[in-house]
Amino acid sequence: MNRITCDWAANRGNPKGQIVLVLFRLAHRVRSLPDPWWLLGAPYLAFYRLLVEWLLGIELRFKTVVGPGLRLYHGQGLVVHERSVIGENCTLRHGTTIGNKSAEDSDCPILGNDVDVGAQAIVLGAVRVGNGAVIGAGAVVVKDVPAGATVAGNPARIIREPRRAD
Ligand SMILES: CC(C)(COP(=O)(O)OP(=O)(O)OC[C@H]1O[C@@H](n2cnc3c(N)ncnc32)[C@H](O)[C@@H]1OP(=O)(O)O)[C@@H](O)C(=O)NCCC(=O)NCCS
Repeated sequence: MNRITCDWAANRGNPKGQIVLVLFRLAHRVRSLPDPWWLLGAPYLAFYRLLVEWLLGIELRFKTVVGPGLRLYHGQGLVVHERSVIGENCTLRHGTTIGNKSAEDSDCPILGNDVDVGAQAIVLGAVRVGNGAVIGAGAVVVKDVPAGATVAGNPARIIREPRRAD
């Protein structure tokens, strides 16, 4: 429930994001039930895939581990591999892809907390994105991003270093 409340607050003024995240949290909850109990929720999982993934084009797989307070702006064309991990209070925008480098490769990105991902950004492979990092629109991230850094471009490079604590 806490996650739903945090998502709701994070997406204030954005009813689409709020509703999609409620649907996602319920689907994640159902899929997290032990075998074979989750199968009782299979019709709901099918509904989630049809509505959110197929019709709305927001591929936020219900197995994905996502921290509370996810902000989802627009959402269209979002693809998040289910092995990826999204930390707390992150922001994802439309056209973003977070996933593996190839179909044979199961390594997926791990995003820390408070990570802001720009529109059309792509984050690939076994990369770690540190807390508070900002990924610019259209960036292609294939290497780790330090906490607090801003990266942009293809391949993504640091355009703003993390702020030093005085
Ligand atoms: C990355 C970002 C946060 C940087 O913003 P900023 O801190 O204000 O940075 P600046 O505009 O001062 O740019 C700094 C440098 O990075 C470059 N840059 C900024 N964003 C870039 C991007 N997305 N891709 C490539 N280069 C970028 C600028 O051209 C500038 O280069 P220069 O120093 O050679 O002139 C921002 O540009 C961005 O991409 N935000 C994503 C937001 C988004 O997706 N919005 C969609 C709304 S629907």
